[in-house]
Amino acid sequence: MSENLGDWKRSHTCGELTTEHVKSQVTLMGWVDSRRDHGGLIFVDLRDRYGKTQLAFNPQRSESVYQQAKELKSEYVIAARGIVSLRPKESINPNINTGGIEVDVKELKILNEAKPTPFEISDRTEASEELRLKYRYLDLRRTEMKENLILRHKVTASVRRFFDGQGFIEIETPFMMKSTPEGARDYLVPSRVQPGKFYALPQSPQTYKQILMVAGFDRYYQLVRCFRDEDLRADRQPEFTQIDIEMSFVNEEDVFATMEQLMAAVYRDTMGQEIETPFPRLSFQESLESYGTDKPDARFGLQIQTVTDLVQATEFKVFNDTIAANGVIAGLAIPGGGSFSRSQLDDLGRIAKHLGAKGVLAHKVQDNMLQGGSAKFLSGEQQEKLIQKFAASNGDLVLFVADQAETAYKTLGALRLHFGRELNLINDSENRLVWVVDFPLFEYDDEDQRFMAMHHPFTSPKESDIPLLESDPAAVRARAYDLVLNGTEIAGGSIRIHRPELQQRVFKLLGMGKEEAKERFGFLLEAFDYGAPPHGGIAFGFDRLVMLLAGCKSIRDVMAFPKTASALSLMDGAPAPVDGRQLKELGLKIVAKDE
Ligand code: AMO
Repeated sequence: MSENLGDWKRSHTCGELTTEHVKSQVTLMGWVDSRRDHGGLIFVDLRDRYGKTQLAFNPQRSESVYQQAKELKSEYVIAARGIVSLRPKESINPNINTGGIEVDVKELKILNEAKPTPFEISDRTEASEELRLKYRYLDLRRTEMKENLILRHKVTASVRRFFDGQGFIEIETPFMMKSTPEGARDYLVPSRVQPGKFYALPQSPQTYKQILMVAGFDRYYQLVRCFRDEDLRADRQPEFTQIDIEMSFVNEEDVFATMEQLMAAVYRDTMGQEIETPFPRLSFQESLESYGTDKPDARFGLQIQTVTDLVQATEFKVFNDTIAANGVIAGLAIPGGGSFSRSQLDDLGRIAKHLGAKGVLAHKVQDNMLQGGSAKFLSGEQQEKLIQKFAASNGDLVLFVADQAETAYKTLGALRLHFGRELNLINDSENRLVWVVDFPLFEYDDEDQRFMAMHHPFTSPKESDIPLLESDPAAVRARAYDLVLNGTEIAGGSIRIHRPELQQRVFKLLGMGKEEAKERFGFLLEAFDYGAPPHGGIAFGFDRLVMLLAGCKSIRDVMAFPKTASALSLMDGAPAPVDGRQLKELGLKIVAKDE
């Protein structure tokens, strides 16, 4: 029984009619949000992406239209013609734009019917995420999801406007390329015309953007899809979007200043907020020692203190063994934590052990002394100095972890976040942007027993550390930086190596011989032989940025068609097996995987 539009044209959206339009004749189109029968009158909320407008059907005006309205069900697509009129006082809704008016419908077309939906299209839904992803088109009709996508669009527009104003050029780079070097796994695309050969989907356009610098495009950016076959979490997707940036003739300061302006423009355009620039900077080491992570959530204090020096020369085996093994003793003071119950303290122990620490020593501060934990091994003077170091007061709890640096800080970092949330120390409306700098160039991979690039192999070492490259690779710092927003890494980048001999040296340290380097990145090295300018750049995780701006917990909530944690698309069923003929044409055979 659905009709065509005929000569009907939409005159207004469902979000724009106000008391100024009273007495106008209008034509609205949209979805039936709800229908209410009120003894002889029918009201329908008509919805489109702009808002909702109340339609009124009065049998005294037209009995046949009234009868038609009785047929309407949720999510039917309709067109309604009528006259805008003031709502009676008692039904005015001051919360929405259109809340002062309704449309007295004179003509109605039912454009399409709809089955009962598997979940209610309402602002708050109890539906499982699986159901929402399977029927994503229905989920996207909900205000929350719709607003998220509109915000995403606004951020895109703001980013493009900013870069255009700064003389950057957006250049598209291929989606079908040779395998990239960035550690995580590539998605492969078999070639039909070159049997047995594969393209890789880019994990990022890193090599292309560097080559664009050699080509002379000194300010490049791109809003670009990247693909990574890695284990997924709430802030990771197999395909995600980056704001990818590269600049020539720059150092770190130029990159920082430009990105700070970008963030200021985005906050201004999309949130109407002014943010403070420049952003504070923390070295990787400082971040690790104060926050227990290279992704510091700087919205609250509770900073970690290292106390190895203050607990020397005790009779306590735990401390002595740790010091002898070149470990550290570090801790955290929890305001008011002195009153924690036994089971709360046991929870801490569990968190610590889960993170690989041997345990956590808990001390109550009472009468300006420590109680419990290691207290009986500490002199009065030591206790006094420790309490001072933590600026702790009576009634607080002081926690120590004694372990290898990485484990000790990581454990304390997790405890810090746990208490930040538990004690309500985090102000959700605050935004703390922090640069983390001076990352190590390499990290040692115990499994492979070799050094890996911490960022990627094109990252430049610090000039002063170049002499250490071969003698003490672990001590070499990189010209790499991350931008962290409220504890989430939203961007990462570096100043690159632009001299082929230095690049070769780094490849060699990464265990890549001349031949292998040539095989994998010969094109880049070759390009560097033809006048590569000094250059550097950065890439933002665009979905993560929008997620934080929208106040969402998962990047899936700011993506139209995301995949599940097991990389499935529940709506269209990707990935899926393919036809035998298709495989044959590609010269491929499926071999059952050994479990
Ligand atoms: P990096 O690998 O650090 O750097 O990535 C940059 C930013 O992209 C985001 N990100 C992700 N977002 C969603 N899902 C994922 N699976 C995912 N992986 C990364 C993060 C991260 O900060 N080519 C370099 C950049 C450069 O050096 O210029 C790169 O890709 O927010």
